Amino acid sequence: MCGIVGYVGERDATPIIIDGLSRLEYRGYDSAGIAVLQDGAVQLRRDVGKLANLRARLADSPISGQIGIGHTRWATHGAPAEHNAHPHISMNGDFVVVHNGIVENYLELRDELRAEGVVFKSETDTEVIVHLIERFANDGAHRDVTEAARRAITQLRGAHAIVVMSRWQPDRLVAVRIGNAGGVAIGLGNQENFIASDIPAILEQTRRMIFLENRQMATVTARSVSVQTLDGNQVTPSVHTIPWDLVSAAKGEYRHFMQKEIFEQARSITDTIRGRVDFEHHTVQLPELNLTEEAARRIDRVVTVACGTSYYSGLVGKFFIEHLARLRVEVDYGSEYRYRDPIIDDRTAVLAITQSGETVDTLAAMEEARTKGALLWSIVNAIGSQAMRMADGHITMNAGPEIGVASTKAFTASIVDQYLLALHLAQQRGVRTPDHDQRVQDAARLPDLVGRTLERSEQVEELAGLLHHYTNFLYLGRGINYPIALEGALKLKEISYIHAEGYPAGEMKHGPIALIDESMPVLAIALKDSVYEKMISQIEQAKARSAVVIAIATDGDSFIASKADHVLYVPETPELLSPVIAVLPLQMLAYYVAVRRGADVDQPRHLAKSVTVE
Ligand code: M6R
Repeated sequence: MCGIVGYVGERDATPIIIDGLSRLEYRGYDSAGIAVLQDGAVQLRRDVGKLANLRARLADSPISGQIGIGHTRWATHGAPAEHNAHPHISMNGDFVVVHNGIVENYLELRDELRAEGVVFKSETDTEVIVHLIERFANDGAHRDVTEAARRAITQLRGAHAIVVMSRWQPDRLVAVRIGNAGGVAIGLGNQENFIASDIPAILEQTRRMIFLENRQMATVTARSVSVQTLDGNQVTPSVHTIPWDLVSAAKGEYRHFMQKEIFEQARSITDTIRGRVDFEHHTVQLPELNLTEEAARRIDRVVTVACGTSYYSGLVGKFFIEHLARLRVEVDYGSEYRYRDPIIDDRTAVLAITQSGETVDTLAAMEEARTKGALLWSIVNAIGSQAMRMADGHITMNAGPEIGVASTKAFTASIVDQYLLALHLAQQRGVRTPDHDQRVQDAARLPDLVGRTLERSEQVEELAGLLHHYTNFLYLGRGINYPIALEGALKLKEISYIHAEGYPAGEMKHGPIALIDESMPVLAIALKDSVYEKMISQIEQAKARSAVVIAIATDGDSFIASKADHVLYVPETPELLSPVIAVLPLQMLAYYVAVRRGADVDQPRHLAKSVTVE
């Protein structure tokens, strides 16, 4: 998705912006550009492809100045091409703009502007913004960029994050946020300030940040940040201090971020649990959820909304909340929720799960829930993200920055968060199950179980060597591990581009079984749990149709070795927590298969880390 970086201060803006953009590479993009004000004129450099191309162009034709904006683009309107890359410049060269989002009414605005004599240089929707700003600036008696931007932006439909620079007022950048097209963070420095769509872009420069809320705009100079609503009312923003460090965002000894993130899950899960569980008194504290006993007793239903991997995490969480807190749970796709007039009232708690906290579909589902009066919770990894801020209460994943596009450690962290949520709900509602104390203790075992599972990576890597040439896979699971089958298949397809289907195992006979033959390996999660016998029978049905069967099985289960062709063993784990363990060999398998196939593991084609368009 698109990324934005801006700088105003006393240093040279170019290297700061390029460094910031390089930290957004993980989001995925197809072109990049930068504009700085140099000797009173806008200097623009843009190029398609990786940032290295833009760097090369800057080396050939350098630009420097103390104020500038940069952008990485993920094409929505207009092909990835230099003339479509941001920043976009106005007719007179007075204004320049970078933008995340989609101008829904750009066709009509473009026609209007064309009728006024504006000549468009790109096929983008963004370009209308910069021409509108110039139009309003020329209309106005006072040459004020903030005012011109405000007037232009009120013409736009859709959700946007926009930064404007002008040679009229060369000391300032104007940043605007409307809706959920990604965040706008303003980093506070010493005699300098920064703007970014994502925290990692400017984290090396400062940890003190202001986040624009919906329909707010900021005028940012080297020494001041003035925040207003789009209606012109002054706002006193809160300043957040971001705790992440850059070291934890670096790849370290690993070849890929995804690999690093898989192998740090013992640590990340420790961080997820840390400080929240009182093992002595068997209680879970989640102060940021802001849930009183009275409010907890009023809730009669939880509706989880999420997308992709976070959605599968929600499917696991349903088992926790229903079993431990005896509350009904529905799990919905964020992208579908608002299209079916969902039944929600003030006794419904809507739980949004989102690693980035900026997924536009999940945010839209949250908005729908808010409008209908639900209690709103979020589970997020990105601190300060929109999903965290708009909820009545939140639980952070504490997984640290997740850079690989394929989500791994955020998936397990969000499952653990929901486990803690279920225990906390049970406490607050006064409905502890007889095994409640044991369930609390079980959480403490997780980091060790995760570590022991990850130690078996060599075996998974060997198996990847045998499987990487297949082009279709079927993943099966049952009970609490059926969402893990879905997640395992998603991991494989998104990074290795192999077609993989995940299914609840009992559904195999209702259709997918027709696909099975010796060319379609079947991966079965068959742990020693309440559905073990059922899974064995699925394995037998697949074997009878000549499938190569790979089983994820519990240590000590020698019987399964006589049924499956390959077995990946995991340590025995309490059934409710087994998804956290069962997913690990599937993450590793997807990773090693993708590496074998020479795929771009951290930035798979067509995907982006933070999906801020519908
Ligand atoms: O940031 P979110 O958790 O809201 O992201 C949701 C999905 O876009 C994300 O999980 C996606 O499916 C990942 N690529 C999965 O690895």
